[in-house]
Amino acid sequence: MSDLKPKFMEVYSMLKSEILQDPAFESTEASRQWVEHMLDYNVPKGKLYRGMIVILSYKALKEGTELSNEEFFLACVLGWCIEWLQAYLLVLDDIMDNSHVRRGQPCWFRQPKVGLIAINDGILLRNHVTRILRNHFKGKPYYVDLLDLFNEVEFQTSSGELIDLISGLERENYSLPVYHRIVEYKSAYYSFYLPVACALLMAGENLDKHVKEKGIFIELGDYFQIQDDYLDCYGDPEVIGKVGTDIEDGKCSWLVVKALECANEEQKKLLYENYGKADAECVTKVKELYKVLDLQGIYAEYESKSFEKLAKSIKTHPSKAIQALWPICAKGRSMAVKR
Ligand code: IPE
Ligand code: MN
Ligand code: MN
Repeated sequence: MSDLKPKFMEVYSMLKSEILQDPAFESTEASRQWVEHMLDYNVPKGKLYRGMIVILSYKALKEGTELSNEEFFLACVLGWCIEWLQAYLLVLDDIMDNSHVRRGQPCWFRQPKVGLIAINDGILLRNHVTRILRNHFKGKPYYVDLLDLFNEVEFQTSSGELIDLISGLERENYSLPVYHRIVEYKSAYYSFYLPVACALLMAGENLDKHVKEKGIFIELGDYFQIQDDYLDCYGDPEVIGKVGTDIEDGKCSWLVVKALECANEEQKKLLYENYGKADAECVTKVKELYKVLDLQGIYAEYESKSFEKLAKSIKTHPSKAIQALWPICAKGRSMAVKR
C-alpha cells in the first residue's frame, strides 16, 4: 500500500494543473496563486486512505489481471475526487467546530489572509470535484451514476453534519442510538461507502444490486469515529495533527454518551453544568469525571472487541471490493491519526 502513495501523488499534480487551467474561468495571476496554495494546503495533507481505497477495491474487483495504465489512472482520479470532497467538508467543518489545528497545521480559515474566504474556498473545492469528473469521465457509460453518487453522498454527509451540529441543543437526548445516527451520516458514507462505490461503478457494476446492504460501511464508520472521539480527548496533538474541541463544543461524542450511561445523578448534574463551555476549568472538570468513570478503560475494552468483530466482518465479506479494505483498516488502527 505504501508503494501506491507516490504514484497517487503524481496524479494530484496533474489534476491540480488541470484545475488551474480550466478554460471555463479566465484566472488572474493572483487567483491562480490563491487556488494553488489553497489546494496544496488542504487537499493532499491527510492519510489519503479514502482515496487509496478506490484503487485497492478496484484491483480486487479485477482479481489477478494487471490494471492497464488507463485504469490505474482513472481509479486514482476517483480517489482524488474523494480527497477533494473531504477537503471541502473539513475546511467548513473546522469553521463550524471552531477548531484551531488540522493535519498538524492551523485550520485553513485561521490563516490571517484567509478568514471567511475559506467558505468560498470550500465551495470551490466542491466544484473542483465536478470539474474533475467532467474532464475525465464525461462520455463513459457510468458518468451520470458517478455524479449521482457524489451528490447523494454529499447530501447524506451534510445532513449528518447538521444533526451533529444541532444535537447540542437537546443534550438530555444524548444516547447511543442518537450517536450512531450522526456517525452513519457524517462519516460512514463518504469515508467507506463512497470509495467502494466508485470502484464498483468503474468496474461496470450496478450499485443497487451490489451494495444494497450498507451495514459493513456503518460498522467501519462507527469504529473509526469512536476512535476519533476518543483521540479528541486523549490523543497526542503531535500524533493526531489536531487539538480536540468536542468538550468545549458540547458534541454528542461517544465519550459523553458513555459517561452519561455510567454516571449517577450527581455526576450527571456536574456533566450538564460543565459540558459544552469554552472554559478551561469546565473542561478540566469534565475530564476529571471521565477519569473517575474510567472511560479510558471502557474505551480500551470496547476497542479491542469491536476491532475483532470488524476484522471478521471484513475478511468474511462476500464482496471482494470490501475484503480489500482490510489493510487500510488494520493500518488505520495502528496509526490512529485521522482524516
Ligand atoms: C467531521 O466530523 C465530519 C466531516 C467533515 C464530514 P468531526 O468534526 O467529528 O471530525 P474532526 O474531529 O473535526 O476531524
Ligand atoms: Mn470537526
Ligand atoms: Mn464536526
